[in-house]
Amino acid sequence: MSLWGGRFATGPNESVVKLSRSVQFDWRLAPYDIRVNIAHVAGLKRAGVLNSEDADRITQALNELSQEVASGSFTYIESDEDVHSAIERGLVGKLGELGGALRAGRSRNDLVVTDFKLYLVDHLLEVAQETLELVTTLDTAASSHIGVIAPGFTHLQHAQPILFSHELAKHSHALLRDIDRMKDWLTRNSVSPLGSGALAGSSLVPNPEIIAAELAFQGVTRNSIDAVSDRDFVAEALFIFAMLGVHLSRIGEEFTIWNTQEFGWVTLDDAFSTGSSIMPQKKNPDIAELARGKAGRFIGNLTSLLVTLKGLPFAYNRDLQEDKEPIFDSVEELLVLLPAVRGMIATAGFNSTAISKGVLDGHALATEIADFLVRNGLPFAQAHEISGKAVALAESRGQEVHELTDIEFAGIDKRLTSELRSVLSAQAALDSRTSINGTSSKSVTTQLAQLDTKIRGYSSWIASERKRFSGMMGA
Ligand code: ARG
Repeated sequence: MSLWGGRFATGPNESVVKLSRSVQFDWRLAPYDIRVNIAHVAGLKRAGVLNSEDADRITQALNELSQEVASGSFTYIESDEDVHSAIERGLVGKLGELGGALRAGRSRNDLVVTDFKLYLVDHLLEVAQETLELVTTLDTAASSHIGVIAPGFTHLQHAQPILFSHELAKHSHALLRDIDRMKDWLTRNSVSPLGSGALAGSSLVPNPEIIAAELAFQGVTRNSIDAVSDRDFVAEALFIFAMLGVHLSRIGEEFTIWNTQEFGWVTLDDAFSTGSSIMPQKKNPDIAELARGKAGRFIGNLTSLLVTLKGLPFAYNRDLQEDKEPIFDSVEELLVLLPAVRGMIATAGFNSTAISKGVLDGHALATEIADFLVRNGLPFAQAHEISGKAVALAESRGQEVHELTDIEFAGIDKRLTSELRSVLSAQAALDSRTSINGTSSKSVTTQLAQLDTKIRGYSSWIASERKRFSGMMGA
């Protein structure tokens, strides 16, 4: 069904229909479109544009349509241009001419932004929930490996000993920032564009504030031209998804490495691994690799929207129709990826012996020697130099620095006394790192407890927002 045509002598060419048609992807907006229409009809009724009886009949038909869309008994057809025209077709099918009455006072330009915002609120909360479940899984793994010491890496070279729990929990912190960005998005973008009309505002619905409140927005946009042009909220969401994707890619990379024969730190469950079509012995970490690989498309989705927006004139331009598919793709891929990554981690076996095995390799205690000298009054630059000499000597012997004898240490510098020995163990190195962000067991235990509190906070926030949203949607 076409929403326009009065001034045209002919209908659009077939290629134009094909090019401009968006219903095959924007049908995902149908439940939100219906909900926004219901709020709009109430606005038209309040404004006296629709009499009570007509408004009630339209609302009733929209409610029926909502059920039919949910059950799949009403869906789009070949001749529908977009979700808005498909829903109006459904309404006209039920009410005849009256079905066209709800178009008064608004345009698809403000309608589509409102629908899309509601879709994003709904799905950001779902992605936030899935992300939080992954954080919880990482946290459980971190809490149950608190005693395991691991080599910590910089430049993928052994650097300093750390607790393996510290290593696992770092991902939780990154992912919680993603959730925090979602929360921030929901606060900043909770303004309704409805009432902006095509671009100049609406003369028929004087109080968009009431409609906004009904749709659970905190307020109304204050410039109608900006409101129909603004896709910052889409770009911000795509950035959040891209950043989350990048975090997942780093988890993927780490598990791929840990799963190698050379590392052997992690054994993936059969249900979360894949085989090879030619090599019968193979068990591959494809989930971790897909987590690494999917980041490319999440970043691509963000890039594609930003390029579409660059230099675009204000108010509505049809280019803006290109805003939806990147979001649908990122949301749907994340909702498949997040549970798979969570399952991979929840079922993974961590091999403590292999993890701790090389903890002192690569002269991992060299910093302890420098710190020992600093504690005894030496400037760090000198301490660094002396420790470096000890490393060079050990290296020339094919040894690790902590394997030098007391006499050899004293030969390098007399301040390297036998007391040095007390700091030369992985445990001592860990125990000394007691700052609030450090890797000592005490610090890590406190950090995990703090994470737990944060998780519970986000969990109840997500639950209450989802409840509020589904209440608004009438679920
Ligand atoms: N399908 C369109 C979109 O997603 C809806 C808005 C159409 N507005 C217009 N003036 N043609 O952007």
